[in-house]
Amino acid sequence: MSHGIMVCDVPLYRDLTKVNVIAYLASKLVCVEKIEKLDMLLQLDQTYEFVITLAALDKVDVTKQVIAIKDQYLPNVPLVIIGHSADLINKLGNVLSPFDQISIVKFIANQLGWTPTDLMNKRIDQYIPIPVALIQYSPTALEDIYIKPKGQSDEYVLAVKSGDSFEIMKKNWLEMNLENVYISSIKRVTVITEITRLAVKKTREAIGSDSESMQLKVVGDNREILSESFSDLAQFEKLPVEIKAEMGVLAQETTVLINKILSRTSKVVNPALNDLVNTFKSEEKSYIPQLSFLSMYISLQLIKDEIWFHETVGEKIRYLHFFNNLGILPIYKKYPEFPKDKNILKYYQNLNAKEKELYRWHPKIISSLMAKIPGIPLGLDQLILQHHGNTTGDFDLSLIHEDVSLLAKYCYISELFAEFLLDSSSSIDEILKFEAIKYIRNRVTLRSYLKIVDGLEKIKI
Ligand SMILES: [Fe+2]
Repeated sequence: MSHGIMVCDVPLYRDLTKVNVIAYLASKLVCVEKIEKLDMLLQLDQTYEFVITLAALDKVDVTKQVIAIKDQYLPNVPLVIIGHSADLINKLGNVLSPFDQISIVKFIANQLGWTPTDLMNKRIDQYIPIPVALIQYSPTALEDIYIKPKGQSDEYVLAVKSGDSFEIMKKNWLEMNLENVYISSIKRVTVITEITRLAVKKTREAIGSDSESMQLKVVGDNREILSESFSDLAQFEKLPVEIKAEMGVLAQETTVLINKILSRTSKVVNPALNDLVNTFKSEEKSYIPQLSFLSMYISLQLIKDEIWFHETVGEKIRYLHFFNNLGILPIYKKYPEFPKDKNILKYYQNLNAKEKELYRWHPKIISSLMAKIPGIPLGLDQLILQHHGNTTGDFDLSLIHEDVSLLAKYCYISELFAEFLLDSSSSIDEILKFEAIKYIRNRVTLRSYLKIVDGLEKIKI
């Protein structure tokens, strides 16, 4: 297996990074707590393919020293620095939070030019270790858990079956100081994504979200934007665990993209947009953030196999679903009972004039806000303008036209589908999926839209 090395004196960060590096990069991670140890190991072995370090060890900025050691022994391998450093050199990979594991592994894969196919073809052991300190965050076993009895180094014994609760077992493992348990490497991405999500959530609850270690700030600009990834979309408990895990990844990746856009907005549309984004974050467990991410997930599923699909189209879709709903967020915040879909018009009459305008024209309002941001993806403002099926930016449900962009039609259908799923009191399963499709077919009667609705049948939900 490939391997990398990490300098880190916080056990939780080490554990999280180790498992995510195995899950996403099919690589082992050697961890050291002091830079002297890094120097020693690199003197002995120069086959490490990447280096990760915390910017500060025990509150002392070590970035400069780590860069010097790395450049001496491994001048050409990528370096990721986690956290803030006064000595940060811009060209280096800088990830602002140890909880943003997706950015860490993405940066390394990009720097090394490892494509998803390369990663799939990498040789990986049949069982991979998960630290007991991490597995304890899960109330039940997410997959079959194996242990390796002492003295029988090649044998893995099934200890807990997938889905079983294992409270007593966990206690025993911790008391025995058992370092790792094992899972099958085939299931590693799903399990590790979920364990990471649970560990970050529990840690945040324990230390408080304003703890210094959780803060993210934009480099070169002290304005705090999104302090964390959207890792706590708890209401997605309605979804099966594998989909929830995929949503977790989607949310983390999207946070990085949103920060990228927001870092360009300071003099143009601040503070309005940043305030809305922060409200969205603080309302993470409520309806609108769920609607945004579920719609995003559905849109991406619908278009991922289209011949014209490209990562830049995916980015546009993510931005559309995230930013457009910022327009109606204040209304759902003020009226939590505001209906999701079917009775909107009745409730709409009760809004005051300003709220009515915001609600009705949110495609147009958010579209013009986005158009002021330099460097947004080409056509994103038009996509937002048209995402309710017309070119005027009107929310009116009866106003859908053929004459809007194809991508806007996909987004519109995905949003209707997500609304129906979230609005239902029953759990999200195949039956509900087909009820939703039937409902949308009755409501959207134009041919090109119906063609998109057909694609919903294959959505994994
Ligand atoms: Fe909308």
